[in-house]
Amino acid sequence: MNEAVPEWSPAGIDPAVPTTARVYDAILGGRDNFKADREAADVFTRRVPQAREAARLNRAALIRGVRYMVRWAGIDQILDIGCGLPTEQNTHEAAQEINPGARVVYVDNDPMVLSHGRALLVDNRTTTVVTADMRDPAGILANPEVRANLDFDRPIGLMLVGMIMHIAGDESPDEIIGALMEPLASGSHLFLTAWPDTGDPAQHALSQASLETLGTGWARPVERIRGHFLGMPLVPPGLEYVPRWYPEEPDRKVPAFDDFEPYERTYMAGIAVKP
Ligand SMILES: C[S@@+](CC[C@H](N)C(=O)[O-])C[C@H]1O[C@@H](n2cnc3c(N)ncnc32)[C@H](O)[C@@H]1O
Repeated sequence: MNEAVPEWSPAGIDPAVPTTARVYDAILGGRDNFKADREAADVFTRRVPQAREAARLNRAALIRGVRYMVRWAGIDQILDIGCGLPTEQNTHEAAQEINPGARVVYVDNDPMVLSHGRALLVDNRTTTVVTADMRDPAGILANPEVRANLDFDRPIGLMLVGMIMHIAGDESPDEIIGALMEPLASGSHLFLTAWPDTGDPAQHALSQASLETLGTGWARPVERIRGHFLGMPLVPPGLEYVPRWYPEEPDRKVPAFDDFEPYERTYMAGIAVKP
């Protein structure tokens, strides 16, 4: 049975059709989702019992990556594409905890992200949310709110965290990334996480659950993910599984890959710097 659309929902929301943002919110244990999203989230947890833990590892890596960029690389403006619904700790909170003046522009193609983001950011003058699609990089770069909030003459941190797997291979993700990076100043950073495919059953199960419920979500060979960085140099530790990825603590003792639980092999992260 379909759920009624709650009063707070923006126009164009269909609660009967799961969306990536809402299903991810349901997997993380959030409340900004509908029955169809929770049913889709159940498919994920049936296929990968620790899907929630995997998503939380990705969120934790997101926060570490933001802290690295703001604290150690001096990035004070971030374009976070595929930002998702607000959750426990968000990009702007992690960035502004270190640099209260850091500017963050959130972009997502799900209109619910805009309404929830605006509500969260009502008192925040340095953070904004835009509804746009990554597959239209020119549209994002020309967007008046993006232009008004980011200074393209200085380095920008471009984030594509947990979202590049939702761009199909025949939509040319690397070309889109190239178009987004092209106008950014030298010293800009590209931070992404993605689903690797090394033949591991948990990786396959996660991708299958996503393709079955959302129609997108491709796990890709590690070298294909490395290609997303367009040959730009990666900051240590390079492209790594998230439990081993601590760019802000390069000396940290990290677990050996062979000791991983299957779900710990489902996300990889990396940050590259534009020369
Ligand atoms: C799994 S969530 C990731 C959220 C957050 N970045 C994180 O890693 O925790 C993926 C997000 O990407 C968004 N997304 C998917 N395809 C997109 C596109 N073509 N353009 C913009 N956003 C997109 C979805 O709406 C969703 O909010």
